[in-house]
Amino acid sequence: MTQYRVLVIGPRRGLIDALRERGIAFSVWQEKPLFTVAASQLNVVAPLWHSPERIREQIRASFADQRFTHVIAGTEAAVVAASVSRRQLGARVSSTLTGTRCRDKLLMKEHLAGFGIPMTRFLADRPDLDPATVFATLGTPVVRKFRKSSGGKGLQLLYSVDQFVPGRHGSSILERYIDAPEASIESFIDRGRIRFTNITAYHRKGHCNFVPAAFDSTLERTLLALNERCIGALGISWGMTHLEVYLTSRGPLFGEIALRPPGGYIMNALQHAWDFNPWQAFLAMELGESFTFPERAVAYAAVEVLHPGAGTVRTVHGKGQVLDEQGVQEFRIKVKPGDVIDERTGLGQDAGYVVHASATPEARNALHERIAQALRIELVPQAPDASPSRKA
Ligand SMILES: Nc1ncnc2c1ncn2[C@@H]1O[C@H](COP(=O)(O)OP(=O)(O)OP(=O)(O)O)[C@@H](O)[C@H]1O
Ligand SMILES: [Mg+2]
Repeated sequence: MTQYRVLVIGPRRGLIDALRERGIAFSVWQEKPLFTVAASQLNVVAPLWHSPERIREQIRASFADQRFTHVIAGTEAAVVAASVSRRQLGARVSSTLTGTRCRDKLLMKEHLAGFGIPMTRFLADRPDLDPATVFATLGTPVVRKFRKSSGGKGLQLLYSVDQFVPGRHGSSILERYIDAPEASIESFIDRGRIRFTNITAYHRKGHCNFVPAAFDSTLERTLLALNERCIGALGISWGMTHLEVYLTSRGPLFGEIALRPPGGYIMNALQHAWDFNPWQAFLAMELGESFTFPERAVAYAAVEVLHPGAGTVRTVHGKGQVLDEQGVQEFRIKVKPGDVIDERTGLGQDAGYVVHASATPEARNALHERIAQALRIELVPQAPDASPSRKA
């Protein structure tokens, strides 16, 4: 059997647990000292640089003479660092171009547009753009977001020409705004083939995901075909992807694809919906191993992500009701009275979550409604001009 030696860049809890369960030796490269490793392994705390040159420098400084069989990216910011490291550290190599296209929304969209993938109109942000032309081309509001981002951080909606102030133009993409529900497709890919897919409905963006979605079979087929075309066009030969789509009345539009496991507790929901360990499956894909995926879902799962907005917590209502619900599989509240919650600048910030599972889509809807009604984080009322001074 192969003696694996793994480097995890941008570790995530589920992946670390999966490696430990299998007794696979691993080192980590993380931005903050969140995870520990065995004494014989390296624990590097350093930024996940954007540029290949800085990444290579960091690898030379931190992993001189080290050899790994596999390098795994757990987070969005780690995707390019992982593809660059693979070459340098003698690990299973992936296409750096694919990694870069999956990390940079502009390069991704330019590439996929060339394959005829339907998407909203977009422009590269540049300092010499004429604002009036931008609005004439993209309509109002104009969406401006960072080319390399995740969790919706730094996204702006511009409603007028005078809001179009020079910004970090080179690092942004401009898009036509789409007013439509969203969904995502999670894929597990091994040796160039998609081995398993799941469709997630963003029932309430940022707050409630349904896993799997209960769309009609025609829409599901359309989404899976779009997913397959994108993965093929990007030449993704292994790993896990999370592709986001907008469900417009004229058909689905590609949003973006991420070459890493999804956030938003979708991994937790996959486990309850399909009855397998998606982190073990992800690890197997990364190691080039086969994995036995389930053929059908065993439940209709959902995630409720809690964030009441910025403020000081007064009370958390409804915990008992949630615990009394048969369908609740996971439940965690991360705040208590007196805690200060920051404004939500990225979807990664939350004050707690619930994962539940039901036998039918109707029962899931009903359970979602009951939990949404009962579970509420009440904030201390604020005087109009007051803002919390302490950050939690
Ligand atoms: N052109 C657009 N029209 C309408 N909404 C948009 C547009 N672009 C982004 N959004 C909204 O902002 C969210 C985040 O945008 P996007 O997925 O491009 O960035 P991200 O930082 O990768 O976010 P995440 O990691 O949450 O997926 C989208 O899911 C969508 O709700
Ligand atoms: Mg996104």
